Amino acid sequence: MSSKDFIYKRKSSVLFSPKKLSSQLIKEIIDASMWAPSSRNAQPWRIIGIQHGTKNFNKIISALSEGNQVWAKNAGLILVFATKIIIDDFNPKMFLDIGFSGQNAMLKATEFDLETHPIGGWDEELVKQAISIPDHSKVAFLLVVGHKANSSETPKERTRNKMENNFSLEKWGEDF
Ligand SMILES: Cc1cc2nc3c(=O)[nH]c(=O)nc-3n(C[C@H](O)[C@H](O)[C@H](O)COP(=O)(O)O)c2cc1C
Repeated sequence: MSSKDFIYKRKSSVLFSPKKLSSQLIKEIIDASMWAPSSRNAQPWRIIGIQHGTKNFNKIISALSEGNQVWAKNAGLILVFATKIIIDDFNPKMFLDIGFSGQNAMLKATEFDLETHPIGGWDEELVKQAISIPDHSKVAFLLVVGHKANSSETPKERTRNKMENNFSLEKWGEDF
């Protein structure tokens, strides 16, 4: 399968099996994250992996919004993407860079036939407390990763805007 196919195969799944990921899988997913582009090659991400069945896993699940807890609790691994320590003012490009890093992780996991789901709904303080993230770091997003559950549930329909809603050639509003 080409990388183009992984782009279309990736989806935000809610059907996870609690099976742990092997160290090799974790290593390859994180390595893909590390190879994301970043402004001035600052690599401003700090990624913390929490495996299913650990005390910290349960703490992280409790820190999620209720709707997310329902399905995330079944996953093998949660990756918390945070900024490195920010000494000076926060630069929004850091979150952009971390987003690229997260996309690499999702595509690599998809290549391994794993399921993924990014999460934006969490309690910042609870996540930080759970895994000892220092004050001068911000959580960018959480990524749920795991093996597929055996399920006959029909996945929800996924849609995208028409291309002209989000893309113009030459200038804003010019139809493609
Ligand atoms: C930064 C970010 C935060 C998200 N937060 C949540 C979330 O808290 N809960 C959830 O169920 N999905 C969340 N999603 C998943 C989106 O709903 C999903 O990507 C979108 O509906 C498109 O579906 P797809 O990922 O299957 O293409 C988030 C996605 C991103 C990129």
